[in-house]
Formats: sequence, structure tokens, C-alpha cells
Amino acid sequence: MGGLKLDLLHKDMLDFEKILNLPSPLEPISDYRFEQKGLKVFVKRDDLIHPQISGNKWRKLKFNLLEAKKLGYTKLITFGGAHSNHLYALAAAGKYLGFETTGIIRGDELNADSSLTLQYAHECGMRLVFVSREAYRDKEELLNIYRTSDQYIVPEGGSNALALAGVGEMYQEIVAQLGYIPDYIICPVGSGGTIAGLINVAPKTHIVGVCVLKNAQYLETEILGLVENKENIELRNFEILWDFHHGGYAKNTPELLMFIEQFEEMHHIKTEYVYSGKMFFAFYELLKNKIKNNSTVVLIHTGGLR
Ligand SMILES: Cc1ncc(COP(=O)(O)O)c(C=O)c1O
Repeated sequence: MGGLKLDLLHKDMLDFEKILNLPSPLEPISDYRFEQKGLKVFVKRDDLIHPQISGNKWRKLKFNLLEAKKLGYTKLITFGGAHSNHLYALAAAGKYLGFETTGIIRGDELNADSSLTLQYAHECGMRLVFVSREAYRDKEELLNIYRTSDQYIVPEGGSNALALAGVGEMYQEIVAQLGYIPDYIICPVGSGGTIAGLINVAPKTHIVGVCVLKNAQYLETEILGLVENKENIELRNFEILWDFHHGGYAKNTPELLMFIEQFEEMHHIKTEYVYSGKMFFAFYELLKNKIKNNSTVVLIHTGGLR
């Protein structure tokens, strides 16, 4: 993505980026369990980037929005469910940066009042198109029907090749903030763009993805398909954990909820049970026998709090 020096061309994007909390803070956290193992543990607070476009959303949208502007698009079209963080952030980005937005929504029984996400997207001016759950599966067909040629397509979850460049910037921030390359980075995995972006740029860091969906092993092929540096795949300095979904996407267990409560109390960092809470939980499990002594671990707080 080195050729993507588009910032100079797009002053409005650059101005917008100035109001974001970037580089996002890298906060050390402490716990006697870390001390016992000689660990340095940090949380990359991407959740603090912006109230509406937070977490990995800015990372994944930035180069897509630049590309859209470069190609002369003023309209965006995307997909999402009634509670999609991606949809929410894209609607906000559209409002702030002057794109007209359309969201194709899973569920023809829904309307603009069905969730806070949809309400907010509607308030931002997003045109909402509700389609049946069955129709939603065939994105190509939906684009044939609903997309006009002046709309730039951002995929569901925002995970595509351009998203990787933004995640790469996050990794560069981490290395600059630490002053060295961390041993581990742990992040949640939903559609896979975040972990793909990390694998792409960080061959010397062991990347651990915590999948928040049940039975989603198919994602591995999609993730590796996104990674541009194929030699980093050969190195296999990454892994995806499939057993920390706590029942499935947006599901939780009493154990997870109790963990989150304790985590928030101990570290004064708010989290949620859909993405980052599952990742923090998994980290505490890995701590028992997987994380090597005397290493540096960075946990990516990908946001999701409204
Ligand atoms: C708050 C939050 N964290 C993490 C993720 C997972 O990231 P990815 O889809 O890149 O795997 C998502 C979904 O995009 C999300 O909304």
C-alpha cells in the first residue's frame, strides 16, 4: 500500500484525521499474574479513536474512503445487520466526510427504529434498504439490484485489501510507542480484516486472533486470502483460537460477564462481550500456559462501545 499517499490529495480527510485521537493510546496494565511471569502487557486503546468511528473501524475505513475520493465517488454502499458496528461507523463517516451512504440491511422485517444502530444510521442520512435474510446471502445479486454505478462498495465488516493498510498503520503506531517489536498481539476476529492486516505487516510478532463466532473455521481461508505478504503466511507466526466464542456471535456466558466485570474493575477499561471482552478473556486463559515468560503482549481494544 506504499503507493497510497493519498492524504496529500485529500485535505478534508487529513483535517478529519486531525480531530481523531491518533495515535491511539498504548496503555500498560498490571496484574500480579503478569508480574509472576515477567510480562509487559499493554492495551492499544483504539476504542478511544472517536466516539462513533472507533476501534478498528477507522483503521479499516480510512483507505477505503481515500480510494473512493480518489476515484471521484461521493456515494458509498455497504451491508450490515441491525447491530453492525461497521454500518454505524460508515454512516457516521459518511456524515462527517460528505459521502451519501446506503446500507443494505439483513432482515426485511426490520425498519429504521428496530435498533439504536439503525436509528443512528438513519439520522446520519444513510438510506436503509431492508432485504430478507435469504436474499442477504447473495451480495453480488444485491449489488446488481440496488447499487448504482456512482456508489463505491465497502464490503460487510469493512474487511478488504484496503482495510489492511489502515491496520498496518496501527501496528506501526504500536512499534513506535513501544520502541521495539512486541512478542504477541492479540485481537478479536469477526470478519477477519484486522488479523489479516496484522499478519500482513508483523512477521516477527506472534499474532493471536480470538474468533467471536461459533463454527467459523471457514474464516481462515478468507483471512489468508486477504493477506498480501504471502511469505508471512508461510512463516505461520499466527494462530486463530476458535473456542472462545461463548456460545456464538453476540452470545455470552455468566463466566464471560463475570470476567468482564472484574476486568473493568481492575483495569478501569470498559469493554463489551461481543468482541474485545472475549479477547481479554482468552488472553487470561492463554496466560496460564501459552504466553512465554518475559514477553511483551499488546491487546487490541477494537471498540464496539457506544
Ligand atoms: C468492535 C469490533 N471489534 C472487532 C471486530 C472484528 O474485526 P474484524 O471484522 O476485522 O475481524 C469488529 C467487526 O468488524 C468490531 O465491530
